[in-house]
Amino acid sequence: MQILSKPFRALVIGSSGTIGSAFVDLLQNNPSCIGVAGIHRKSIPAIDYLDPSTIQTCTSALTQQGPYQLIINTIGVLHTDHWMPEKRLDDLNSEQLIELMQINAIGPGLTIRHFLPLLDPTGSLMVTLSAKVGSIEDNRLGGWYSYRSSKAALNMLIKTTSIELARTKPNITLIAMHPGTVNSRLSKPFKGQQIGRPAIDACTDMLNVMKTIEPKDSGSFISYSGERLPW
Ligand SMILES: NC(=O)c1ccc[n+]([C@@H]2O[C@H](COP(=O)([O-])OP(=O)(O)OC[C@H]3O[C@@H](n4cnc5c(N)ncnc54)[C@H](OP(=O)(O)O)[C@@H]3O)[C@@H](O)[C@H]2O)c1
Repeated sequence: MQILSKPFRALVIGSSGTIGSAFVDLLQNNPSCIGVAGIHRKSIPAIDYLDPSTIQTCTSALTQQGPYQLIINTIGVLHTDHWMPEKRLDDLNSEQLIELMQINAIGPGLTIRHFLPLLDPTGSLMVTLSAKVGSIEDNRLGGWYSYRSSKAALNMLIKTTSIELARTKPNITLIAMHPGTVNSRLSKPFKGQQIGRPAIDACTDMLNVMKTIEPKDSGSFISYSGERLPW
């Protein structure tokens, strides 16, 4: 049975972002969604992946509002104030790798760990936004070392956790989702305005896919169109 077939309460992590804020707008206007909360770096409580202790602080602060049947984590970076994606091996450096791993893989992985008590144990879905460029099998162009590697690490964290949860909490479903190319702050330096879709269109598609998800799908890497992506 589809997890979101009944009225559900939702939490959007990274609700200050382009895709995160579009999800909040969409869910606020969705009659099946009985409540939506958003958290980000400047919300109360705040979540900042450069300070992992904030993840646990958020759990404590949100416990009263739960349980949630849907949690969507949209936090992620491709470029930062310090770094642009590497074009070649000579650009590879430990500082950039560490920063992107911290924000794109370690933070979301620890969020799954610490936010589990916020999820409805009788039926809930946690979707973490990944990226198709994190697929090892699909990598044909190379480059973007830190982003690709951090999303591949994120995918492994989601898959591995889903295997454990299938044994211990079988009604909690974890998905890695690719939003497609979206016109956003993240994609702007890479022709995002020209080649990216409006966030609301991508989020509408992703929410439609989420509505079809069942517990047996846990540990899948799925695109906004519903296509199963190779790891
Ligand atoms: N846009 C695309 O074409 C595309 C394609 C594939 C995958 N994705 C994925 O989709 C997700 C959303 O991207 P977007 O396009 O909406 O980008 P965006 O507009 O730049 O939003 C990124 C979000 O991540 C947050 N963030 C950045 N660093 C953080 C940190 N240290 N701690 C906590 N939050 C932090 C931002 O918070 P602030 O507002 O505080 O900066 C913002 O909420 C990302 O995971 C991205 O990898 C996007």
